[in-house]
Amino acid sequence: MKNIIYILLLCSIVSCKQDSIKNALETKANLALIPAPDFIKLDGDSELTELVFSVDNSADKYFNALDQSSIKGFPISRSANPNLTFSKLTQPSTGGHFVLEIGKSSVKVLADDEEGKFSAMSRLLQLYSMTGKLPSGVIGSAPRFEYRGMHLDVARHFYSVDEVKKYLDYLFFYGYNKFHWHLTEDQGWRIEIKQYPKLQEVAAFRDETLIGHYNDVPQKYDGKKYGGFYTQEEVKDIVNYASNKGIEVIPEIELPGHSLAALSAYPELGCEDKEYKAATKWGVFDDIYCPTEATFKFLENVMDEVITLFPSKYIHIGGDEAPKTAWRNSKFCQDLIAKEGLKDEHGLQSYFIKRMEKYINSKGKSIIGWDEILEGGLAPNATVMSWRGIEGGIEAANANHNVIMTPTSHCYFDYYQSNHKDEPLAIGGYLSVEKVYSYDPIPSELPVDKHKHILGAQGNLWTEYLPTFDNVEYMVLTRMAALSEVLWKSKDQKNFQSFKNNLSEHIDFWKSLDVNVSDHRLDISPKVLTKFGEGPYVDFGSYPEGAELQFVSPFQKLWSNEVKTPFSLTEDGYYSFRAVKGKLEGRSSPLTFTNHLGTKASLLLKNPPAEQYGGVGASSLNNGIIGPIEKYGGNEWLGFNGDDLEAEMIFPDITEITSIDVRFFNANGQWIYLPKRIEIFSSKNGKTYESLKSLDNVKARGKVANLKINFKDLKTKYLKVVATNYGKIPQGKQGEGNRAWLFVDEISIN
Ligand code: ACM
Repeated sequence: MKNIIYILLLCSIVSCKQDSIKNALETKANLALIPAPDFIKLDGDSELTELVFSVDNSADKYFNALDQSSIKGFPISRSANPNLTFSKLTQPSTGGHFVLEIGKSSVKVLADDEEGKFSAMSRLLQLYSMTGKLPSGVIGSAPRFEYRGMHLDVARHFYSVDEVKKYLDYLFFYGYNKFHWHLTEDQGWRIEIKQYPKLQEVAAFRDETLIGHYNDVPQKYDGKKYGGFYTQEEVKDIVNYASNKGIEVIPEIELPGHSLAALSAYPELGCEDKEYKAATKWGVFDDIYCPTEATFKFLENVMDEVITLFPSKYIHIGGDEAPKTAWRNSKFCQDLIAKEGLKDEHGLQSYFIKRMEKYINSKGKSIIGWDEILEGGLAPNATVMSWRGIEGGIEAANANHNVIMTPTSHCYFDYYQSNHKDEPLAIGGYLSVEKVYSYDPIPSELPVDKHKHILGAQGNLWTEYLPTFDNVEYMVLTRMAALSEVLWKSKDQKNFQSFKNNLSEHIDFWKSLDVNVSDHRLDISPKVLTKFGEGPYVDFGSYPEGAELQFVSPFQKLWSNEVKTPFSLTEDGYYSFRAVKGKLEGRSSPLTFTNHLGTKASLLLKNPPAEQYGGVGASSLNNGIIGPIEKYGGNEWLGFNGDDLEAEMIFPDITEITSIDVRFFNANGQWIYLPKRIEIFSSKNGKTYESLKSLDNVKARGKVANLKINFKDLKTKYLKVVATNYGKIPQGKQGEGNRAWLFVDEISIN
């Protein structure tokens, strides 16, 4: 539908005839625009070497959008004789539509609203900053979603005003219009609130910071005080800078959880009479605001100041990951639950959020909350940010609430973007550019009449592992580019191959500006698969176009080009693979292979692993490659969300087995738990199984539990390994009440 409106619209503007529409759509334009426009018709190069805006006030913000930017192109200036002019579209349009008519010596911007004009500026900036010139012709686009957001956590790590502005430059460059600014956390409070000076003096700082990964045993700290905050003047400056790019800044003031830093400054807001300290490590903490009148007064006063600083329609009130331990142990909270006739502590959270919503609504603003605000009853006018999955979004939309989709599966840009061993330390997980690109924010289960409640989607950047702004750029840029096409283009207009080609030019561009963009163009991801009766082999899948594969192996210590496919793994030892293109050498992908009796078996899984932690399939568990100790995810670990592992192995012949080794990942901070029980079965016929051995209360000292189960006189063709999922995450732990993850690799048979 959007396309049809477009063609009509453009035809009226460029007076194309019916039969030239087809030609126009088929024009293969050589522009690397991201998001790719809906319509391009080029007829050469423009002769423009400068953009001249009118001196009229109405052009101020569009001029500023290009002028106040860390990304520059050719000169822009102002004059009474502009070469860039604005006019209305000649057909009715929906929000954000724009058409750029670029002639030999002038640019006409057609748009009916500010948003469309800003988007046109953003595409002009891309065109002239990346190539130093402008093409001539017509380019038009309209966004698929009205909410096109990026988030930044400035609490776990703090970035300067100039860095936040740079981040906004990237949002503008890729057609985003919402900046979700995560300003308060357990580890630091980052916005000046004049009525509460201790927020600046105390809550803005933590004593020290965890170094390395949260899951490291033992955890280590740097011993250095860390912190900072934005003054109200700086906040206004940033909000103004964003507004000159058509970006609405949505502040997040977390409640009732993630509030330890605030409690460190004002302990009377907690449920216990004790000293609180801003957190020095990551995670979820039991100490949260107590729902007393003093707390509500504090939060209302904070909101009063926040509301004056942010013209945004929305205030984000958090609502996620608020453990109920402190409320359960508090007589005050239990009395309040009884007095208000609430069901339990979830009811109390709902009471808390509803009260704050009422206050914020009374100031003419609306709230957004993470999907936990559904628990215990949704506040009447709230917009829900669905992050733990898409279910919260579906539930809220079905209840006629607006929704912003930010599921971890497609929108968490703090996850690893590559399985490569040399990736900088990240929280965990795996989210590739391609996966982001594949996202459709409208859940297929959602009835059509509820689609209107899905306002759009947002990429989230949590910064526990991103101490510098360079780290931020590395994690965000390519995936932000991918999500921008998700937000601008309909499903059938998207084309990953074409996006990838365009992204390659963007990567070169960012590199030319010394921006720390991630570059995985020559990465390969060799998968080790198994074949029944034959054993493991390497599948290279698709590798970078025009590149050549090289390898080293236990027999061949220097890089060799003679990669035979299938590439069988027979000899134990170290292998490495890489792609080479001209003079460019891709990063090497090493494997250490350890053969065992199970590599020739067929391995069947009763329950499939979760899609995002599916490794290379069942072969991950018997391919002779051990999952890395540093991180779960990737090609080797298989992750089961709430489900048990039930792996049946069928050997080619009756096989004598003396031991089974099984490994499990252990990272409770990421909701990953060891199994409750392991049981090994064998069978004579592959139908009826008898239990051989079992083990309860599996323990691990570090991040990985390595279990060895020995057998005497065991000869079998059929073997089954069952590991029972831990179940629900217990109270007081991170992710309490959610299904635990079980991660396994490898099942080695000797
Ligand atoms: C979240 O990631 N805790 C919203």
